[in-house]
Amino acid sequence: MSQNTDPDFWAKANAHLVRYGGAFAPVIAESAQGNWFTDADGRRILDFTSGQMSAILGHSHPEIVAVARHYVGELDHLYSTVLSRPVVDLAALIAKISPGQLDRVLLVSTGGESNEAALRMAKLVTGKHEVVAMSRSWHGVTGGAASNTYSSSRKGYGPPQPGALVLPAPDTYRSRFIDDRGVYDWQDELEFGFDLVDRQSSGALAACIVEPILSSGGVLEPPEGYMAQLAKMCAARDMQLIFDEAQTGLGRTGTLFACERDGVVPQYLTLSKTLGAGLPLAAMLTTPEIEDVAAERGYLFYTTHASDPLPAAVGLKVIEVILRDRFSERAAELGRGG
Ligand SMILES: Cc1ncc(COP(=O)(O)O)c(C=O)c1O
Repeated sequence: MSQNTDPDFWAKANAHLVRYGGAFAPVIAESAQGNWFTDADGRRILDFTSGQMSAILGHSHPEIVAVARHYVGELDHLYSTVLSRPVVDLAALIAKISPGQLDRVLLVSTGGESNEAALRMAKLVTGKHEVVAMSRSWHGVTGGAASNTYSSSRKGYGPPQPGALVLPAPDTYRSRFIDDRGVYDWQDELEFGFDLVDRQSSGALAACIVEPILSSGGVLEPPEGYMAQLAKMCAARDMQLIFDEAQTGLGRTGTLFACERDGVVPQYLTLSKTLGAGLPLAAMLTTPEIEDVAAERGYLFYTTHASDPLPAAVGLKVIEVILRDRFSERAAELGRGG
């Protein structure tokens, strides 16, 4: 009998776990190393999902293990306004490698939180509340992030936040704006989308939140120039642009940040999954100009794990390895078929 069907394990799981995302996979994971995890029968399974799309250096990378071991024994967690060297060093490193002047960094734990942090700041700074997102987006399950997530079920949880508006996601294969010759008029699609947004808006457009490659919505890579045009259309409406690089950030797409492809620098950029390479770490980046205004207005995003040293130390090592081992360049080469 397969050890994966262990009746005690599944009886306990069924009795005590909340089913938070459909059925559980019919295996019991016992260990994970590199690109593989091993089930209860000792079977090695190639982890095509890199955990939850996060284990960017493979599971239990020896340098990450060493950093985590050190910090869990020396400097694990602190009161959220007490700073430590890994936090300040990571913020400075992220500021250095990110595009434009995204020099102010908030470190939190999850992608949803990092997007909440950006959305709250955009609302505070603009004094407006309407947020535009793509029709196949995924930004998280917390209130603001979920209000702007359209690729998961929105039904049954009551009203989303007021002012959640939608743009058609750019789908280069299935868009209705692809004509009989197969030509995709994405400019027309964007114009159409913003025309609807303008008609629905009550004059309080604050922000537009977008994944530079829509990930959970089907890995939709917008045509070249799309993000630059979107940024222009947001600027014309005084809307702040938030790029959610949870899945695309830190070299996966052949540039350190996917938004670099179109040379667009948003007002906010969020990182999560890949930043901790599997450990809970996320970041919200913005400009000093915006952060100064937010601080003057008493910006609050105070969480239990804001600025925790242990995950920050891991994040520092993750970026160090990505840069040192030239993973971004390697992704670009592989993408070109090299
Ligand atoms: C693009 C994107 N943003 C945000 C999130 C939410 O991150 P988390 O689940 O860490 O809150 C996800 C999760 O899949 C995501 O894919």
